[in-house]
Amino acid sequence: MSSPSLVSVSHLSHYFGKGDLRQQVLADINLEILPGEIAILSGPSGSGKTTLLTLIGGLRSHQKGTLTVLGRNLKGMSESGLVNVRRRIGYIFQAHNLLQFLTAHQNVQMSLRLHPIEKSKAALQATAALEAVGLGDRLHAYPHQLSGGQKQRVAIARALACRPQLLLADEPTASLDKQSGREVVTLMQQLVRTQGCSVLMVTHDSRILDVADKIVTMEDGKLIDPTPSANAYSSETSKSSLIRG
Ligand SMILES: Nc1ncnc2c1ncn2[C@@H]1O[C@H](COP(=O)(O)OP(=O)(O)OP(=O)(O)O)[C@@H](O)[C@H]1O
Ligand SMILES: [Mg+2]
Repeated sequence: MSSPSLVSVSHLSHYFGKGDLRQQVLADINLEILPGEIAILSGPSGSGKTTLLTLIGGLRSHQKGTLTVLGRNLKGMSESGLVNVRRRIGYIFQAHNLLQFLTAHQNVQMSLRLHPIEKSKAALQATAALEAVGLGDRLHAYPHQLSGGQKQRVAIARALACRPQLLLADEPTASLDKQSGREVVTLMQQLVRTQGCSVLMVTHDSRILDVADKIVTMEDGKLIDPTPSANAYSSETSKSSLIRG
C-alpha cells in the first residue's frame, strides 16, 4: 500500500564538502507530513533545518536515505521531474526575496510563469492571491513602498497563488515585529486550511507554535522527540524541546 503521507523522509542523511572537509549535517532523519498537516521544525542555529527544507523542496539532492515528496521519490530524479515536483510546492523564505523592480502583482504573476496558465488567467489569479492576503489595494506597489509585514504577505500570496499541495516556509516571521509576525502566520494558517495545503515551517518563534499540528525539533542534524499525533502544541514534550531550541 502506498504511504498516505505527502512527505515521507526515511533514514535521510546529508553531507557537505568532500574528503577531510566532509561534514555530516543531517543524520538518519525520519519524518512524515500528512495531507493538510501544519508541521513546525525548530532547533538551534546550524542544526540543519534549512538543509532539510531545501532537500524536501527538491532544491538540492540528498545523498543517503529515501525522500518521497508528493508521491515521487526524489532520488536520481531528472531535472524536468524535479521541476514538476517544485511546481506543486510553494516556498517562503526569511527574506521575502521579492524582485524590487516589479510590483506586488508582477511578483506574484511571475511565479505563475512556471505553470501552463494563460497570461490573462495568471493576472486574475495573482490579483485573487493578493486580495486573499489583504493587499487588494496595493497591487501596484513596489516592495520598497510596503512594510515588512506587507512584503511577507506578498511572499505568501506568491507561494500560494499556484495552489501548491505543500508549502515550505523558512523562518517567515524572523524579520517581523511580534504583531506582524503573528498576523502573517495566522493568515498563512487560514489560507492553507482553506486550500487544504500541508506546511513545513521552520521557526524559532515560540509565539506561533499554536498553529502547528506537529512540532519537531532538530539538534546537531538529528530530529529529537518527533510528535506524530495531531495537536502537538498541547504536548509538554514538544514545548520543552522547543524551549531548549
Ligand atoms: N552550502 C553549504 N555548504 C557547506 N556547508 C553548509 C552549506 N549550507 C549549510 N551548511 C552547514 O550545514 C549546517 C546546517 O546548516 P543549516 O543552514 O541547515 O542550519 P539551520 O538549522 O537552518 O541554521 P539557522 O537556524 O542558523 O538558519 C551548518 O553547519 C552549516 O554551516
Ligand atoms: Mg536556516
